[in-house]
Parts: sequence; structure tokens; C-alpha cells
Amino acid sequence: MTAPSPDGNPADLLTLKDRALDVAAEGIAIADAQTPGRPLIYVNQGFERMTGYAASAAIGRNCRFLQGKDTDPAAVAEIRAALSAGRECLVEILNYRSDGEPFWNRLSITPVHDSAGRLTHFIGVQSDVTARRQDEEALRHSKHELEEDVRLAAGVQRSLLPPPDVHAGSLHFAHAFHPCDDLAGDAVGIVPLPDGGVGIYILDVSGHGVAAALLSFTLTHLLSPGEGALVTENLGERAASVPPARIVERLNRQFPMDRTRQYFTLVYGIAAPETGVIEYVVAGHPAPVLVPRSGPAAPVAAGGLPVGMVEDTRYESKRLTLEAGDRLYFYTDGAIETVDASGNEFGLERLISEIERVRDLPLRAGIDRIASVVTDWCGGSPDDDVSLLAIERTTPGA
Ligand SMILES: Cc1cc2nc3c(=O)[nH]c(=O)nc-3n(C[C@H](O)[C@H](O)[C@H](O)COP(=O)(O)O)c2cc1C
Repeated sequence: MTAPSPDGNPADLLTLKDRALDVAAEGIAIADAQTPGRPLIYVNQGFERMTGYAASAAIGRNCRFLQGKDTDPAAVAEIRAALSAGRECLVEILNYRSDGEPFWNRLSITPVHDSAGRLTHFIGVQSDVTARRQDEEALRHSKHELEEDVRLAAGVQRSLLPPPDVHAGSLHFAHAFHPCDDLAGDAVGIVPLPDGGVGIYILDVSGHGVAAALLSFTLTHLLSPGEGALVTENLGERAASVPPARIVERLNRQFPMDRTRQYFTLVYGIAAPETGVIEYVVAGHPAPVLVPRSGPAAPVAAGGLPVGMVEDTRYESKRLTLEAGDRLYFYTDGAIETVDASGNEFGLERLISEIERVRDLPLRAGIDRIASVVTDWCGGSPDDDVSLLAIERTTPGA
């Protein structure tokens, strides 16, 4: 058969247009706008392939026969409103083939007017978008599952936090923990040790998300007494606490940055509940802030590289004694680096003045107040985790 020439006679041109309509992957349907019920007067082969209905079964009927039990009435109402107003519309609607199989139809309907401006026909173009909808649904489903997993993991992470208040001898401990996402790279611990001391730590893994949280989970495990822990050792029959500097040096060996692609900052200390002596190591972490009972708050001696950065780093333990009424605050850098809407950092000075402002409040209420001032600074959604840990040496008889 020779192809008709578009330059040839009008009949050839019409045949060519018919052929073009039939080879199109889209369904094309034309309805009579003047006849009640808007019956179809033409469907192409694309429509027949897509719906399974032969033209002879479709022509003369309103196209709503493609709808079925799960078709969204809102989509139908949208089409109805557009047709009554004589305007075009585009909807995605669930339709059913002649064998009952559902498919997603991306349907666009355009009104056609004659030369007198009278609405004569509607042309509908149908595309089967089932595969795309299924891909989107699968993506939504896996995103939902992932979010559910992360939420569960966040619950596990919260369950590892110490109780909000811990009392041991003359010491009172409190903490606040505000992850910026579900999962935190920060961790806080207050851990009773076998020989009467209390291990305390606050740490901040570089980065965010699952990788940072996994490392922070692991560190929480290693810094808690029990199987495989770093913080205790057996001396003969007796379990003893491992000095802070040795713990941090072991962590530094165990988590080199070139292997983990992460580093972390940490303060680990051992507090003696009866004497108020605190032996601690600061590894790249902001210096703790001491609030003497009377006198201004100020950072204490710190120093030391973050853990994992440089092989064989030596860490030096510092020591201080809390007197009755003294408080010591530890915090992660999220507490000072959080920025307000104009880009101003909360900063160390402001943190110190907030710490001083709550000196007459009970420890627990005070730390919550500081945490809420910090998180309010950035409109309630910090872009880094904010963690605080405080120790107070209680006044005898208070
Ligand atoms: C040209 C044309 C093509 C149509 N194609 C479809 C279609 O493929 N699938 C569908 O569900 N509805 C289609 N419709 C819409 C229905 O025929 C009907 O207008 C819609 O269900 C709203 O009217 P109703 O509330 O009276 O059912 C088409 C309508 C026109 C005018």
C-alpha cells in the first residue's frame, strides 16, 4: 500500500489523520456535547487497546462506563463541574478495563466550539499512568517504612537516656536532650560505676542521621558498664572503674576517622559522690562551665583533640572539686551554635548568662529552662542536637 501524500486530495489527508489517531498510544474519545448524556461518537484504536472495549461497544454511551467501585467520586465531580461549565479539565482517575482490571487514567478533556462559538463536542485524551502510580506508591511505601524504622530507632535511643534526675551521695545529676531530627548524634550518660563513682559523659558525633546515630549508640553501649564495656575492668576479683584518660585513648584507637569517616567530641568524667571530686577528660568538646555557689560562672580547663582525628593522641585527665552549692554544666556545641532568624549565634556568653540566671532554680527546672531558651532562639527547630548535663553538689541539710 502506498502512503497517502499530505499534499494529495483531502480524502487522503483524512485517512492519514485517521491513521495517526489510531497509532497513537493515547486513547482519544470524542463526545457529542449537544446530545443529552454526552454520548461518545468516536474512539480511536488506542482507546480500544487501553480499555479493552471495541469502538462498537463504546460509541453511543457516556464514557462513565469506565468507572467502577474504587473510582474517586471527587475526581468524577471535578469532571462533571468542568463539563457543565464548558471548560477543559485534567484529572487522574481510576478506571476499569472490559475484563474488570483497574488502571489509572490520566484524562484530559477539551471543549470544541464551532465557528459560531457554540459548544459542539468534547475531546478526551486518555493515558495509562498505572506504572507511574505504582512506582510512586512503592516509593511512598518504602519512605513510610523507613520513617517508621527511624522512629523506632529514635525510641530505642531515648530509652537509653539516663533518668531525668539522678541522686548519688552529695551529688545531683540532671540532663536535657533535644535531637534536631528523630535520630541524634549526641549522647548523654550518667552511669553508676562498680566502685561507687558515677561515670558521666556527653558526646557529639560529627554529622547527622543514621550513621551518626549508629556511632552514638555504639559509644553509649561502650560507656555503660556491662559486657564489652570500656569503663570497667576486673582487678582480681574486684571490678574497678577505668580512668577517664585511658577510656578516651582506647576510643581514639578503636574509632579512627579514616575508617569510620566520623569523629566525635566527648567529655567523660568520674564523679565521686561523697567528696564531690570530678576527674574528667575533654576531647575536642566545649569546656564545661562551673558555677561556684557564690561567684561568676566560667568555663573550666579543657583541651584535647576530638576522638578519632589523630592516631595515638594522649589525653590528660583534669580534676576539680565541687563544693556544696556548686554546679557544673556540660553541653554539646548545638547549645551555642544555634542561630536565630537573622543568623546570630546563641553563643557561649549567652549560655553562661542563662546558666547564671537559673542558679536559684532547682537543677532539673534550671536545665529545662536553659534548653528551652536555646531551642526558642532558633524558633524551636535547631539544626543541631542540643544536649546538656549538669551536676550539683547539694548543700547538706538542703
Ligand atoms: C470526551 C470525554 C471523554 C471522557 N473520558 C472518560 C474516561 O476515559 N474515563 C472516565 O472515567 N470518564 C471519562 N469521561 C467523563 C464521564 O463521561 C462523565 O462526564 C463523568 O463521569 C462526569 O459525569 P457524571 O457525573 O454524569 O458521571 C469523559 C467525558 C468526555 C466528555
